[in-house]
Amino acid sequence: MKPIEIAKDIFWVGCIDWNIRDFHGYSTYQGSTYNSYLILDDHVTLIDTVKKAFADQLIANISQVIDPKKIEYVVSNHTEMDHSGGLARVMHKVGEDKPLYCSKVGHKNLSMHFHKNWNYQPVENGGELILGKRSLTFLETRMLHWPDSMFSYVKQERLLFSSDAFGQHYAGLERFDDQIGEKIMPHARKYFANILLLYSPLILDLVAKVTDMKLALDMVCPDHGIIWRSDPSKIIKAYVEWSEQKPKRKALVVYDTMWESTEKMAHAIVEGLGKDGVEAVPMHLRKWHRSDIITEVLDAGAVIVGSPTLNNGLFPTVSDFMTYMKGLRPKNKIGAAFGSYGWSGEAVKLINSQLEAMKFDVIDPGITTQFVPDEKGLEQCFELGRKIARALPE
Ligand code: FEO
Repeated sequence: MKPIEIAKDIFWVGCIDWNIRDFHGYSTYQGSTYNSYLILDDHVTLIDTVKKAFADQLIANISQVIDPKKIEYVVSNHTEMDHSGGLARVMHKVGEDKPLYCSKVGHKNLSMHFHKNWNYQPVENGGELILGKRSLTFLETRMLHWPDSMFSYVKQERLLFSSDAFGQHYAGLERFDDQIGEKIMPHARKYFANILLLYSPLILDLVAKVTDMKLALDMVCPDHGIIWRSDPSKIIKAYVEWSEQKPKRKALVVYDTMWESTEKMAHAIVEGLGKDGVEAVPMHLRKWHRSDIITEVLDAGAVIVGSPTLNNGLFPTVSDFMTYMKGLRPKNKIGAAFGSYGWSGEAVKLINSQLEAMKFDVIDPGITTQFVPDEKGLEQCFELGRKIARALPE
């Protein structure tokens, strides 16, 4: 896609990855973009690069605006390879001696990734770089979502280059929120749930800090997906809401099954939840991708997990899901476990202990069924659903 002038003399020169479907375990079923931005001023500046495989495309995009050798400053807001994989190619093209601005941790991390003695210029939080008519102010955003992460702000255009924050994995020809409308929000929500959920407390602190600074924002330019220009406050408000993790009357019954017994239990629990007006969905772990389940976990008040016992342990997909969910540290959840077994039946205890370790409110010892659940067993599952429904906030 050709470069786009997003503000006077500021260009999007990024690349669209139409084909990526797996982003380190996150299902990117509508691709992604790697956004890079070029600022034409007395000192021409490039903000972030792209994944290594797209480096030539980035350079071709820049060349449509200006000779890449005229770039004087390169800014790396984040070391992760989807934004700095193309850095070696870019530095080679623009000149290995050109100043490379990054956070102090970015300096360390880029050095360990590239083992190059580039002209690093580590910046302080609040540090300013004069480009000519405009300047860049750097804001450290440690652990959002890497220790090196930072934002770069152009006060003259009231424009924030926000790195991964406020991004979305979405490949499309639209470059701005007003070109796509509400359709982008599920992608932003999924991105938050899978990349940023564990940093929710830091996000709330950051938004409070930025609010105190009265940072005027006309445009928020993330490194993935569309740019927020019609109402940047919309995505910021959404981040606050998502970070608060207020539980809804919504429950997920996440399970796998070997011979449909655990599945029968899952469906009975869903029916019990639904009886009392809870929005409830059975989520079979080989039908739903873990990253789509986590997106629904975001505002669910309860997560009920079911597993058959396989070889004295959990079914592998259930282990995968529990590990993934643990890492993302969801808060304010009720939890419970269920599962069918043949002769040992450890799964429910294992799930309970993992849910407790994640600080879920485990309100029931859980339900086990030997082999195929009978009517009584299914009734117990139904009642578990109703018990959880009564415990969920109105
Ligand atoms: Fe889009 Fe943390 O990289």
